[in-house]
Amino acid sequence: MRVAMIGAGYVGLVSGVCFSDFGHDVVCVDRDQARIDALNRGETPIFEPGLTALMAKNVAAGRLRFTTGLAAAVAGAEAVFIAVGTPTRRGEGHADLSYVHAAAAEIAAALTGPTVVVVKSTVPVGANRDVARILRAARPDLAIEVASNPEFLREGAAIEDFMRPDRVVVGAETETARAALRALYRPLSLRETPILFTSLESAELIKYAANAFLATKITFINEMADLCEKVGADVQAVAQGMGLDRRIGPKFLHPGPGYGGSCFPKDTLALTRIGQQVNAPLRLVETVIAVNEARKRAMVDKIAAALGDHLSGRRIAVFGVTFKPDTDDMREAPALTIVPALIGAGAHVTLCDPEGAREGAGLLPGAVWEADPYAAAAGADAVALLTEWNMFRGLDLARLRRAMAGDALIDLRNVWRPEDAAAAGFVYTGVGRGDASGAATQDMTRAQ
Ligand SMILES: NC(=O)c1ccc[n+]([C@@H]2O[C@H](COP(=O)([O-])OP(=O)(O)OC[C@H]3O[C@@H](n4cnc5c(N)ncnc54)[C@H](O)[C@@H]3O)[C@@H](O)[C@H]2O)c1
Repeated sequence: MRVAMIGAGYVGLVSGVCFSDFGHDVVCVDRDQARIDALNRGETPIFEPGLTALMAKNVAAGRLRFTTGLAAAVAGAEAVFIAVGTPTRRGEGHADLSYVHAAAAEIAAALTGPTVVVVKSTVPVGANRDVARILRAARPDLAIEVASNPEFLREGAAIEDFMRPDRVVVGAETETARAALRALYRPLSLRETPILFTSLESAELIKYAANAFLATKITFINEMADLCEKVGADVQAVAQGMGLDRRIGPKFLHPGPGYGGSCFPKDTLALTRIGQQVNAPLRLVETVIAVNEARKRAMVDKIAAALGDHLSGRRIAVFGVTFKPDTDDMREAPALTIVPALIGAGAHVTLCDPEGAREGAGLLPGAVWEADPYAAAAGADAVALLTEWNMFRGLDLARLRRAMAGDALIDLRNVWRPEDAAAAGFVYTGVGRGDASGAATQDMTRAQ
């Protein structure tokens, strides 16, 4: 099929590349000229494992192009995807649909024949109908179908998630729209991926409900970690014991400094606003948001406590600033709360992140960047790990300790074994490791 993908960000670019790999003829459109120039040079503007190679393969095969020219890309396309951003509307919490509406208006002006317009952006209930209204009002001469096709890929594993999703969700009202989406995802149906066809409203809500549920699971184990610290239990063992119950499952039971990223914070907030608007408040999700916000700030106290409640003048090396490993995405990363608070309290902060510097440098003023973790830790009173990149898991802890002036190791992702840290001469602070025995950790690592 001939596909136009409007928006070549994390979702649009990955989706466009993967659809071209399915054999479709794809044009990715973005209004950011620098982004399109980079793509046309064969460079990916985002860090996503495997993306550059898959993109090059499909460009070489003649199935994938990049342009700022929306009109030419849309004319003649059988399916037009909207994959533009839906950030939080400033000052309140609703999703900002201005990019979606603007894209819909541009698409309407450019269409030359019957087309399915597919909304892949995460949008609140009713937004697909709004898009349909915009399109049909502008082009009463054309048969335009609208479908909702929310995306569930995870940054850092985006290609694998797109190619082997747990499910594809399609909200559609006509057989024509459903048939188009079936054809687009045909390679997946051959792999027996379930395609769930629903109404537009259900598809819109599935995306928000899934993200809110995952954010709740993370927040649940984070609070459980706090409790473990108070009562002398090990949250790793608690999570393992919970996760082995198949009704619960082991995923998203890893405690940390609070969830961040481009989706959970804005989507949980937008969902609560939808609930409030129709007088069906989502009190659980509202609480999750508040608990998560407080948690990011509490991590500053945790780091301070490891330094004797004294941050002024102390040297702190922070390992990992992106909101999770294997992405360069800094949106709503806990580091954006924690690092400025440390600097604000008078600490000297050195940052180390394999992909975070490009985006993070402008967002975290006053910090020094080092590419090498041992160099970042040189002379530091404390090392605080915020994001569990693999490069940190395998560090030589004794060497790290020797590079430092102090002995505080604050492991906000529980990547190190407390006994290994102690053997290297560290005073170790984990998350929810009230007994700090490490025994359950060992068993859990084996089970995973
Ligand atoms: N990032 C994720 O992991 C993820 C996962 C699932 C769903 N989503 C959803 O997908 C949507 C896109 O998210 P993202 O992270 O890819 O955003 P992004 O900010 O990385 O990319 C959006 C792109 O759209 C472009 N754009 C905006 N308006 C345009 C227009 N009129 N014409 C052409 N280009 C335009 C921007 O220049 C930008 O490059 C959001 O609704 C998000 O909630 C994101």
